[in-house]
Amino acid sequence: MSVQVLPPRAYLDTSVFARERELFMREWICVGRETDLAQPGAYFALTVMAQPVVVWRDQQGRLRAFENVCRHRMAVIADGCGVSKYLRCPYHGWTYTDDGKLRAAPQADSYIAGQHIRLPEYRVEIWCGFIFVNLDPHADPLAPRLTQVEKILAPYQAPTFEFSAREIAAPVNANWKLMLEVGLESYHFPYVHKSTLAANLGGAPNSPEGNGSWTVSVEPRTRPLEPQAGHPPGLSKEHRATTYTFGIFPCTVFNVDVDNIVWFTLLPVTESQTASIFGTAARTPELIRILGDDQPTSRENYFEWGARLGAEDNAICERVQAGIRARGARPGPIIRSKENCLYEFQNYLRAQIPEYPLAKEEE
Ligand code: FES
Ligand SMILES: [Fe+2]
Repeated sequence: MSVQVLPPRAYLDTSVFARERELFMREWICVGRETDLAQPGAYFALTVMAQPVVVWRDQQGRLRAFENVCRHRMAVIADGCGVSKYLRCPYHGWTYTDDGKLRAAPQADSYIAGQHIRLPEYRVEIWCGFIFVNLDPHADPLAPRLTQVEKILAPYQAPTFEFSAREIAAPVNANWKLMLEVGLESYHFPYVHKSTLAANLGGAPNSPEGNGSWTVSVEPRTRPLEPQAGHPPGLSKEHRATTYTFGIFPCTVFNVDVDNIVWFTLLPVTESQTASIFGTAARTPELIRILGDDQPTSRENYFEWGARLGAEDNAICERVQAGIRARGARPGPIIRSKENCLYEFQNYLRAQIPEYPLAKEEE
């Protein structure tokens, strides 16, 4: 029996979204590269399922994450990104040190003295140069479930990549799962990405099984890359002819090329609106390369390409979200030879959320 794509309810129902919010509260979420917060005091803010979070490198060089909400009248403290030894709430000026402690409260210092007020701290784990946070203090560590991915990536030496950049992309009118799904399969490349990806990637992916926490699609490059100065010796001819697309559940996609990684993490806002972090990393700033291409390009070209690619995927996701609302909308089959990653994603959702709506049960 063929497996079908998720039913409309999975993308539209607020009660399904509420269960997914609980899932995000206990999962590891990839939020950036270590090099995005290179210096002491560097921080960025983000919102994970309505939870404001700030990730901050302390003066000792340790990466920490806190709830980004003031302990006075609960305003969100930091926005965007920056570098600072202290964070100050914009409402009444309460300031916090990089261990989360309240340091000063204008005209109220005598009240706060001895109260040990501090921001709740979240878990942080660094994996392959990426920063992951987890809002659940009791969550199992991340690394053991990604050991196989780490093995595949070992020859790339991704933790040593020098260049990185990340930005928060504006919300798209689509459910977060549609945006993950479009990032996992290459079946749509010849239609959606005619001028951005289709020429570089072969579109004949091999998608071996993940372990329930992740999935991968192995994509042949049209033009394999010649050995380059500065590349690690462990890279084989096969690596140079391949691009990997990993789905790290619940909400991250890594596209790993020989010396470049394009990645995104989805930040659901509502069941039909999703913001995202779009990031990139390269072995060196001189080796920034469009995915699957064999020639380095300028930063400007690269980011222009990234914006086009993102717009192509976003537009198609909004079309699907619009189609799903139709009275007669019915899920069709997952084409396993092309879209197996979607099947693996469904298995993950079902394992994490009992009674998750799957299409076959609704017929
Ligand atoms: S809410 Fe932050 S200082 Fe008042
Ligand atoms: Fe796409």
